[in-house]
Amino acid sequence: MTTITIPPDAFDALKGKTVIITGGRSGIGEAAVNLLASHGANVVYGDIGPGSFIQPNVHFKKTDVTDFGTLQELFKFTEDNFGPVDIVLPNAGIHEEEDWNSEEWLNSTAGSKVVDVNYTGVLYTLKLALLSFKRSGKQGSVTITGSASSYLDSSPVCIYAGTKHGVLGLMRSAKTVVGPIARINLVAPWMVKTGLPGEGILELWGDLPLNSPLGVAKAILYAAVEEKFNGKGFFVGGDDIIELEEGIEGTRPQWLTQNQSDLVQEGWMKLSKPRQMNF
Ligand SMILES: NC(=O)c1ccc[n+]([C@@H]2O[C@H](COP(=O)([O-])OP(=O)(O)OC[C@H]3O[C@@H](n4cnc5c(N)ncnc54)[C@H](O)[C@@H]3O)[C@@H](O)[C@H]2O)c1
Repeated sequence: MTTITIPPDAFDALKGKTVIITGGRSGIGEAAVNLLASHGANVVYGDIGPGSFIQPNVHFKKTDVTDFGTLQELFKFTEDNFGPVDIVLPNAGIHEEEDWNSEEWLNSTAGSKVVDVNYTGVLYTLKLALLSFKRSGKQGSVTITGSASSYLDSSPVCIYAGTKHGVLGLMRSAKTVVGPIARINLVAPWMVKTGLPGEGILELWGDLPLNSPLGVAKAILYAAVEEKFNGKGFFVGGDDIIELEEGIEGTRPQWLTQNQSDLVQEGWMKLSKPRQMNF
């Protein structure tokens, strides 16, 4: 496990870059938009409603990430106005109350909206990002906002945790398939002080360390600009950043046996190589 320190000049690379972020009007997304704008990027944020930005390099496009058509419009608007897209940040996410003890809740489709926004929305955004990079002929970068729930048991928010495990699986598998078209990473914040967990949960959290939206936004943007990162997963707790994927990969022989681990590696090479994307 490696603790990450962001170099002071890390975000200079954002100047002039074209960036799309979903869920940019509040919380972590809002902090990321402000950071991007202050470093001279052109930012287009897709969200269900506008935020309160006044910077001339920040642009809003009404987008519902569960609606593929509105995401296509978000990418078209960005490319038409700012040229090739450099960075895409699938960040929109929701949390809904889950009531596993309620017969009414069990006997309904409640919970599927979380899947639509947190998993399908990220998948749609990733597909359009790859299409955009492929057409431009220039490698792009994607950082997905996952969650500590991408890695950890997060009862009682079981559906939320399932979607966040899902986007981790998407990132892990896509990192090889996207080949030269893109780098892809995931940021996995533990509790962040935004509207998403809600006052009740934050009250229960008490005085345990919280992330700030800005601390998480910095992790997202560092993952996006640092060219050596691909297939990484950055846990963020109390604004400290720890890379998890290398450590987990390194212990595979311990939990899978050396023999099975070697066979898995061989299988991956056979299966994923011929299916790699190309310009
Ligand atoms: N707050 C936390 O403790 C925490 C922890 C881990 C991960 N996260 C993740 O961080 C991301 C941002 O959440 P946040 O904490 O900033 O909360 P937030 O509620 O402030 O931000 C979520 C944003 O997503 C937008 N959104 C919701 N549904 C949408 C849709 N269908 N289409 C487009 N935009 C939509 C909202 O309007 C909002 O701007 C989410 O993916 C969330 O799961 C948050």
